[in-house]
Amino acid sequence: MEVIIQPSAEDGTQLAADLIAELIRKKPDATLGLATGRAPLGLYRKLVDMRLDWRQVRTFNLDEYVGLPGAHPASFSRYMDEHLFRHINIDRRNAHVPSGTAADVPDACARYEETIRLAGGIDLQLLGIGTNGHIGFNEPTSSLASRTRIKTLTEDTRRDNACHFDAGQLVPHHVVTMGIATIMDARQCVLLAFGRAKSAAVAAAIEGPVSAMHPASALQLHPNAVYCLDDEAASGLTLASYYRWVREHKFAVHA
Ligand code: GLP
Repeated sequence: MEVIIQPSAEDGTQLAADLIAELIRKKPDATLGLATGRAPLGLYRKLVDMRLDWRQVRTFNLDEYVGLPGAHPASFSRYMDEHLFRHINIDRRNAHVPSGTAADVPDACARYEETIRLAGGIDLQLLGIGTNGHIGFNEPTSSLASRTRIKTLTEDTRRDNACHFDAGQLVPHHVVTMGIATIMDARQCVLLAFGRAKSAAVAAAIEGPVSAMHPASALQLHPNAVYCLDDEAASGLTLASYYRWVREHKFAVHA
Protein backbone atom coordinates (compact mmCIF):
# COMPACT_ATOMS: atom_id res chain seq x y z
CA MET A 1 0.00 0.00 0.00
CA GLU A 2 1.10 3.52 -0.64
CA VAL A 3 0.25 5.74 2.29
CA ILE A 4 0.48 9.42 1.35
CA ILE A 5 0.09 11.91 4.16
CA GLN A 6 -0.51 15.50 3.16
CA PRO A 7 -0.69 18.55 5.42
CA SER A 8 -4.31 19.27 4.45
CA ALA A 9 -7.38 17.73 2.85
CA GLU A 10 -6.87 20.18 0.00
CA ASP A 11 -3.44 18.71 -0.76
CA GLY A 12 -4.70 15.12 -0.43
CA THR A 13 -7.56 15.95 -2.76
CA GLN A 14 -5.19 17.50 -5.32
CA LEU A 15 -3.16 14.32 -5.36
CA ALA A 16 -6.20 12.15 -6.08
CA ALA A 17 -7.41 14.61 -8.73
CA ASP A 18 -4.03 14.42 -10.45
CA LEU A 19 -4.12 10.59 -10.43
CA ILE A 20 -7.56 10.52 -12.04
CA ALA A 21 -6.73 13.26 -14.56
CA GLU A 22 -3.58 11.42 -15.59
CA LEU A 23 -5.55 8.21 -16.08
CA ILE A 24 -8.21 9.91 -18.23
CA ARG A 25 -5.58 11.66 -20.35
CA LYS A 26 -3.66 8.43 -20.90
CA LYS A 27 -6.73 6.27 -21.37
CA PRO A 28 -9.67 8.34 -22.63
CA ASP A 29 -12.04 5.35 -22.30
CA ALA A 30 -11.01 4.62 -18.70
CA THR A 31 -13.48 3.04 -16.29
CA LEU A 32 -13.71 4.76 -12.91
CA GLY A 33 -15.32 3.53 -9.72
CA LEU A 34 -16.79 6.53 -7.90
CA ALA A 35 -17.69 7.23 -4.30
CA THR A 36 -20.00 9.63 -2.49
CA GLY A 37 -19.83 11.24 0.96
CA ARG A 38 -17.99 14.33 2.15
CA ALA A 39 -14.47 13.14 1.36
CA PRO A 40 -14.66 13.30 -2.48
CA LEU A 41 -16.59 16.60 -2.74
CA GLY A 42 -13.46 18.72 -3.23
CA LEU A 43 -12.09 16.16 -5.66
CA TYR A 44 -15.16 16.42 -7.89
CA ARG A 45 -14.86 20.23 -7.86
CA LYS A 46 -11.25 19.93 -9.00
CA LEU A 47 -12.09 17.40 -11.72
CA VAL A 48 -14.79 19.72 -13.05
CA ASP A 49 -12.34 22.66 -13.07
CA MET A 50 -9.77 20.56 -14.96
CA ARG A 51 -12.13 20.39 -17.95
CA LEU A 52 -11.15 16.83 -18.84
CA ASP A 53 -12.70 14.99 -21.76
CA TRP A 54 -15.17 12.49 -20.26
CA ARG A 55 -16.89 11.53 -23.54
CA GLN A 56 -15.58 7.95 -23.51
CA VAL A 57 -15.15 7.50 -19.75
CA ARG A 58 -17.36 4.97 -17.98
CA THR A 59 -18.17 5.29 -14.28
CA PHE A 60 -19.64 2.93 -11.71
CA ASN A 61 -20.69 4.19 -8.30
CA LEU A 62 -20.17 2.14 -5.19
CA ASP A 63 -23.57 2.24 -3.61
CA GLU A 64 -27.10 3.59 -3.24
CA TYR A 65 -29.92 3.51 -0.70
CA VAL A 66 -32.69 0.99 -1.29
CA GLY A 67 -36.03 2.65 -1.86
CA LEU A 68 -34.81 6.20 -2.48
CA PRO A 69 -35.79 7.50 -5.90
CA GLY A 70 -32.94 9.08 -7.89
CA ALA A 71 -34.48 12.54 -7.39
CA HIS A 72 -34.40 12.27 -3.57
CA PRO A 73 -31.97 14.88 -2.15
CA ALA A 74 -30.06 12.21 -0.18
CA SER A 75 -29.78 9.68 -3.04
CA PHE A 76 -26.29 9.05 -4.36
CA SER A 77 -27.62 9.29 -7.89
CA ARG A 78 -28.63 12.91 -7.18
CA TYR A 79 -25.33 13.56 -5.39
CA MET A 80 -23.37 12.43 -8.46
CA ASP A 81 -25.52 14.51 -10.75
CA GLU A 82 -25.10 17.62 -8.61
CA HIS A 83 -21.41 17.32 -7.89
CA LEU A 84 -20.03 15.81 -11.08
CA PHE A 85 -22.13 14.48 -13.94
CA ARG A 86 -24.04 17.65 -14.83
CA HIS A 87 -20.79 19.63 -15.00
CA ILE A 88 -18.84 17.33 -17.35
CA ASN A 89 -19.30 15.98 -20.87
CA ILE A 90 -19.87 12.36 -19.81
CA ASP A 91 -22.33 10.27 -21.84
CA ARG A 92 -25.02 9.61 -19.22
CA ARG A 93 -25.48 6.07 -20.54
CA ASN A 94 -21.95 5.39 -19.30
CA ALA A 95 -22.49 6.80 -15.80
CA HIS A 96 -23.78 3.97 -13.64
CA VAL A 97 -25.17 4.18 -10.11
CA PRO A 98 -26.62 1.01 -8.55
CA SER A 99 -30.40 1.02 -8.51
CA GLY A 100 -32.13 0.89 -5.16
CA THR A 101 -35.56 1.09 -6.75
CA ALA A 102 -35.46 -1.70 -9.35
CA ALA A 103 -38.43 -4.07 -9.29
CA ASP A 104 -35.98 -6.90 -8.64
CA VAL A 105 -33.02 -5.45 -6.73
CA PRO A 106 -30.97 -8.69 -6.45
CA ASP A 107 -31.28 -9.13 -10.21
CA ALA A 108 -30.21 -5.50 -10.74
CA CYS A 109 -27.18 -6.20 -8.49
CA ALA A 110 -26.18 -9.19 -10.64
CA ARG A 111 -26.57 -7.08 -13.78
CA TYR A 112 -24.43 -4.33 -12.24
CA GLU A 113 -21.60 -6.83 -11.76
CA GLU A 114 -22.04 -8.02 -15.33
CA THR A 115 -21.98 -4.47 -16.69
CA ILE A 116 -18.70 -3.81 -14.87
CA ARG A 117 -17.29 -7.03 -16.29
CA LEU A 118 -18.39 -6.17 -19.83
CA ALA A 119 -16.78 -2.73 -19.46
CA GLY A 120 -13.47 -4.54 -18.91
CA GLY A 121 -13.34 -3.98 -15.16
CA ILE A 122 -12.59 -0.85 -13.17
CA ASP A 123 -9.25 0.92 -13.75
CA LEU A 124 -9.38 3.11 -10.66
CA GLN A 125 -11.77 2.77 -7.75
CA LEU A 126 -12.21 5.80 -5.54
CA LEU A 127 -13.11 5.08 -1.92
CA GLY A 128 -13.91 6.81 1.33
CA ILE A 129 -13.99 5.08 4.69
CA GLY A 130 -16.69 4.94 7.34
CA THR A 131 -15.83 5.50 11.00
CA ASN A 132 -16.46 1.77 11.44
CA GLY A 133 -14.09 0.87 8.59
CA HIS A 134 -16.71 0.33 5.91
CA ILE A 135 -15.87 0.84 2.25
CA GLY A 136 -18.80 1.44 -0.04
CA PHE A 137 -21.52 0.28 2.31
CA ASN A 138 -19.76 -2.95 3.23
CA GLU A 139 -20.40 -2.91 6.94
CA PRO A 140 -18.31 -4.87 9.49
CA THR A 141 -18.57 -8.65 8.95
CA SER A 142 -19.18 -8.21 5.22
CA SER A 143 -17.63 -11.13 3.42
CA LEU A 144 -14.29 -10.29 1.88
CA ALA A 145 -15.55 -12.28 -1.13
CA SER A 146 -18.79 -10.29 -1.44
CA ARG A 147 -20.25 -8.93 -4.68
CA THR A 148 -22.83 -6.22 -5.38
CA ARG A 149 -25.81 -6.94 -3.16
CA ILE A 150 -28.25 -5.58 -0.60
CA LYS A 151 -26.77 -4.77 2.82
CA THR A 152 -28.30 -3.66 6.09
CA LEU A 153 -26.73 -0.55 7.63
CA THR A 154 -25.49 -0.49 11.20
CA GLU A 155 -26.97 2.09 13.55
CA ASP A 156 -23.60 3.91 13.62
CA THR A 157 -23.62 4.37 9.86
CA ARG A 158 -27.25 5.48 9.83
CA ARG A 159 -26.37 8.06 12.50
CA ASP A 160 -23.27 9.23 10.56
CA ASN A 161 -25.38 9.73 7.44
CA ALA A 162 -28.44 11.29 9.11
CA CYS A 163 -27.05 14.77 8.31
CA HIS A 164 -27.85 14.15 4.61
CA PHE A 165 -31.54 13.66 5.39
CA ASP A 166 -34.09 16.22 6.59
CA ALA A 167 -34.83 16.23 10.31
CA GLY A 168 -37.38 13.54 11.12
CA GLN A 169 -36.76 11.70 7.86
CA LEU A 170 -35.82 8.05 8.26
CA VAL A 171 -32.35 7.02 7.03
CA PRO A 172 -33.00 3.81 5.07
CA HIS A 173 -31.93 0.56 6.71
CA HIS A 174 -31.05 -1.06 3.42
CA VAL A 175 -28.60 -0.21 0.67
CA VAL A 176 -27.13 -1.70 -2.47
CA THR A 177 -23.34 -1.78 -2.47
CA MET A 178 -20.54 -3.17 -4.57
CA GLY A 179 -19.00 -6.03 -2.62
CA ILE A 180 -15.50 -6.13 -1.22
CA ALA A 181 -14.43 -8.54 -3.97
CA THR A 182 -15.91 -6.16 -6.56
CA ILE A 183 -13.76 -3.36 -5.12
CA MET A 184 -10.70 -5.60 -4.91
CA ASP A 185 -11.02 -6.42 -8.63
CA ALA A 186 -10.27 -2.78 -9.53
CA ARG A 187 -6.79 -2.33 -10.95
CA GLN A 188 -6.10 0.52 -8.56
CA CYS A 189 -7.87 1.66 -5.38
CA VAL A 190 -7.55 5.23 -4.10
CA LEU A 191 -8.94 5.83 -0.64
CA LEU A 192 -9.49 9.38 0.64
CA ALA A 193 -9.75 10.06 4.36
CA PHE A 194 -9.58 13.48 5.97
CA GLY A 195 -10.11 14.68 9.52
CA ARG A 196 -9.50 13.32 12.99
CA ALA A 197 -12.85 11.47 13.07
CA LYS A 198 -11.37 8.97 10.57
CA SER A 199 -8.02 8.44 12.33
CA ALA A 200 -8.96 5.27 14.24
CA ALA A 201 -10.62 3.69 11.18
CA VAL A 202 -7.61 4.55 9.03
CA ALA A 203 -5.10 3.16 11.53
CA ALA A 204 -7.02 -0.11 11.86
CA ALA A 205 -7.32 -0.40 8.07
CA ILE A 206 -3.62 0.16 7.37
CA GLU A 207 -1.90 -1.28 10.42
CA GLY A 208 -4.46 -3.65 11.93
CA PRO A 209 -5.18 -7.24 10.97
CA VAL A 210 -7.08 -8.08 7.78
CA SER A 211 -10.54 -8.71 9.08
CA ALA A 212 -14.15 -8.73 7.89
CA MET A 213 -14.80 -6.71 11.06
CA HIS A 214 -12.90 -3.86 9.41
CA PRO A 215 -13.70 -4.06 5.68
CA ALA A 216 -11.15 -1.44 4.56
CA SER A 217 -8.38 -3.71 5.89
CA ALA A 218 -9.04 -5.92 2.84
CA LEU A 219 -7.04 -3.34 0.85
CA GLN A 220 -3.91 -4.75 2.49
CA LEU A 221 -4.36 -7.60 0.00
CA HIS A 222 -4.65 -5.24 -2.97
CA PRO A 223 -1.53 -4.89 -5.14
CA ASN A 224 -2.15 -1.21 -5.95
CA ALA A 225 -3.92 0.62 -3.14
CA VAL A 226 -3.18 4.28 -2.42
CA TYR A 227 -4.28 6.09 0.73
CA CYS A 228 -4.56 9.89 0.42
CA LEU A 229 -4.71 11.22 3.97
CA ASP A 230 -4.37 14.53 5.73
CA ASP A 231 -2.35 14.90 8.93
CA GLU A 232 -5.43 14.48 11.11
CA ALA A 233 -6.66 11.28 9.47
CA ALA A 234 -3.10 9.94 9.74
CA SER A 235 -2.74 10.87 13.42
CA GLY A 236 -3.44 7.31 14.67
CA LEU A 237 -0.79 5.66 12.49
CA THR A 238 2.17 4.15 14.35
CA LEU A 239 4.39 4.34 11.28
CA ALA A 240 3.35 7.83 10.09
CA SER A 241 6.90 9.20 10.02
CA TYR A 242 8.04 6.13 8.07
CA TYR A 243 5.33 6.67 5.41
CA ARG A 244 6.33 10.34 5.14
CA TRP A 245 9.99 9.41 4.72
CA VAL A 246 9.20 6.77 2.10
CA ARG A 247 7.15 9.30 0.16
CA GLU A 248 9.86 11.97 0.32
CA HIS A 249 12.54 9.58 -0.87
CA LYS A 250 10.39 7.70 -3.34
CA PHE A 251 12.48 8.65 -6.34
CA ALA A 252 15.84 8.52 -4.54
CA VAL A 253 16.23 4.72 -4.60
CA HIS A 254 18.67 4.70 -7.50
CA ALA A 255 20.27 8.07 -6.81
C1 GLP B 1 -20.81 6.72 3.15
C2 GLP B 1 -20.54 5.95 1.85
C3 GLP B 1 -19.10 5.57 1.75
C4 GLP B 1 -18.28 6.72 2.28
C5 GLP B 1 -18.45 6.82 3.76
C6 GLP B 1 -17.77 8.00 4.40
O1 GLP B 1 -21.94 6.40 3.77
N1 GLP B 1 -21.36 4.82 1.57
O2 GLP B 1 -18.79 5.25 0.40
O3 GLP B 1 -16.93 6.51 2.00
O4 GLP B 1 -19.79 6.69 4.12
O5 GLP B 1 -18.40 9.19 4.09
P1 GLP B 1 -17.79 10.61 4.43
O6 GLP B 1 -16.72 10.89 3.44
O7 GLP B 1 -18.97 11.53 4.28
O8 GLP B 1 -17.31 10.57 5.82
